[in-house]
Amino acid sequence: APRILSGMQPTSDSLHLGNYLGALVNWVSLQDDFDAYYFVADLHSLTVPTDPQVLRERTRVTAAQFIAGGVDPQRSAVFCQSHVAEHAELGWVMNCLTAFGEASRMTQFKDKTAKGQNANVGLFTYPMLMAADILLYDAAYVPVGEDQRQHLEVTRDLAERFNTRFGEALVVPQPYIVKGSAKVMDLQEPTAKMSKSTSGPKGLIDLMQDPSKIAKNIRSAVTDTDGEVRYDVEAKPGVSNLLVIHSVLSGTRVEELERAFAGRGYGDLKKEVAEVVVTAVEPFQARMRELLDDPAELDRVLAMGAERAQEVARATMERVRQRVGLLPAV
Ligand code: TYM
Repeated sequence: APRILSGMQPTSDSLHLGNYLGALVNWVSLQDDFDAYYFVADLHSLTVPTDPQVLRERTRVTAAQFIAGGVDPQRSAVFCQSHVAEHAELGWVMNCLTAFGEASRMTQFKDKTAKGQNANVGLFTYPMLMAADILLYDAAYVPVGEDQRQHLEVTRDLAERFNTRFGEALVVPQPYIVKGSAKVMDLQEPTAKMSKSTSGPKGLIDLMQDPSKIAKNIRSAVTDTDGEVRYDVEAKPGVSNLLVIHSVLSGTRVEELERAFAGRGYGDLKKEVAEVVVTAVEPFQARMRELLDDPAELDRVLAMGAERAQEVARATMERVRQRVGLLPAV
C-alpha cells in the first residue's frame, strides 16, 4: 500500500476539535487503505520553551489521543519523532538546501516574529524539519488541516530540488486536505481558526474538557443576527462552523442539516451540535482514561512504532547520504 504520514505537536494536555476534525478523523479512515505513520512532533515543540516534565507528559498524552481517536497501533506506526534520529539528520540536509530568504518568507515565522515573539533559530528552520519528517518515509500523502498547506509546498519544493540536484531519490508528497473540516474556527471569533496558541478558553473545544463545559461553550458560540441556519462561510462564519462540526461528527450532509433546521432558531442548532460533540467526546475520554492508566503499555506501543519507523527512515537516510556525498562510515 502507498505510504502516508502525519504528525501533531504535543503543545498542550489536550488536542482540540480542530486537530480532531481537521486531521485525526482522516488519519483514522486512511489507515484502512494506506501504510500509515503517525508521530508526536516533540522536536518541533522544543521551539517553544516548555518544562521538561510537562513536555514528557504531553508527548505521552498526545500519542494516547491518537489511539483514543481510533488510530490502531497494530496497523499504523505510532511513534515519537525524537525516537528516530534520522528526522534531525535529514532536517540538517534540508536546511542546507533552503535559501535564507525562502525560509524568512514562511508565514508562520513571519507571524510569530511580527507579534514580537522572541523567536529562536529552531522556529526559523521548523519547515525544513517538517519536510524531513515527510520525506524520510516516502509519503505519497500527508493528511493535515489547511494551516499546514504552505509547509507542504516547501516540502514538495525541497524534494524536487533534491531530486534535480542529486538524482531521483525522494518521493514528492501530496497534501491530503479535506474540504470543509480542514479549518475548524474559533467559537468566539469564527473568522479565525481554532488554535491552541491564539484562541481563548471559550473559543476552543478541548477533547479532554468536561463535557458540560464543552456544551456550554457551544451554546455561547458567536453567530449572527439574521436567524437563518444556512451554510455561508463569508456571511455566516459562526453558523457555518457549527454546521461543519455537526456534519463531520454525525455523518449528515450540510444540505440535509440546512433542511432539518429550516425555520428553527440558532438555539436548536447549538443544542444539537453540543449533543453531537459530547456523544463523540465521551467514549474518547473513557478510552483515554484506560490508556493513561497503563503508561508502560503506551511506552511499549511507542517503542514498537519507533522500530517500524526506524527501518524506513534508515533506508532513506542511507540513500540521501550516498547521493549528497557523505563518506560511508565503515
Ligand atoms: P499542529 O500540531 O499544530 O496540528 C495538528 C493537526 O491539526 C490540524 N489543525 C486544524 N485543522 C482544522 N482546523 C483547525 N482549527 C486546526 N488546527 C490544527 C493541523 O493542520 C494539523 O494537521 N507542523 C505540524 C506538525 C508536524 C507535521 C509534520 C504534520 C510536524 N511535522 C509532518 C504533518 C507532517 C503542526 O504544528 O501541527
